[in-house]
Amino acid sequence: VGEGAGAQDLANLHVLVSAGGTREPLDPVRFLGNRSSGKQGVALANAALARGARVTLVAAHLEVPPPAPHPRLSVVDVSTAESLSDAMRSAATEADIVVMAAAVADYRPENVESGKIKKSGGGPLLLRLVENPDILAGLARDKRPGQVVVGFAAETAASRDELLDLGRAKAARKGADLLALNAVGWSQGFGTDENAVVLVTGAGDVVAEAAGTKADVADALLTAALGVRGAPA
Ligand code: CTP
Ligand code: CA
Repeated sequence: VGEGAGAQDLANLHVLVSAGGTREPLDPVRFLGNRSSGKQGVALANAALARGARVTLVAAHLEVPPPAPHPRLSVVDVSTAESLSDAMRSAATEADIVVMAAAVADYRPENVESGKIKKSGGGPLLLRLVENPDILAGLARDKRPGQVVVGFAAETAASRDELLDLGRAKAARKGADLLALNAVGWSQGFGTDENAVVLVTGAGDVVAEAAGTKADVADALLTAALGVRGAPA
């Protein structure tokens, strides 16, 4: 009622999506970050809202506006991989579909300096980085019955076959129910309004391909997630 003409096929479902890119602090004024704009994650949140879902958006430094306020939407702002992990784990206890669209820093500085790092002597600055936990793998490991856990994998692959090989291995390694694979390069995939993905299941089956706007890709991903939910492995 009052939702417009679109299909409400996600009514009564809770979609949890992370978007954007984490920032790992080096000192009070500096961080290690990445080029994720958050467009695909925000498009997922908007698409899920339009299809009737309750949506929790975990937002890490979005470069695009979040969805307009909506009675079925909550937005949780996070910064580091650790804070993103905490927010996802807590919201996942009530989610039916969980999508990790955020770009999570694989590593963080081992020590965060309490004062600004100063230049010294003209030599190189060495940073020691430690690996962040794999949030998607943790969500997949701890998922509740009936929950569908979806990830993205941006790969610099030379061919579609190589993209599929990398993606299948990654989906299996992480235990994800669905992985959206896309090819990236220096000028492809980040900050743009378009995206192209191949959707593979944890078992390695290609269930859909989508190319177009990030809104189109969001709708295809949500439809594929509903499909996996209807036919669990
Ligand atoms: N991801 C995550 N936690 C991390 C790293 C990645 O949850 N610490 C999620 C991303 O949000 C994405 C998926 O895992 O949904 C794949 O991310 P990707 O960077 O492709 O995978 P990695 O396991 O980090 O492998 P790679 O060495 O290729 O970066
Ligand atoms: Ca990574």
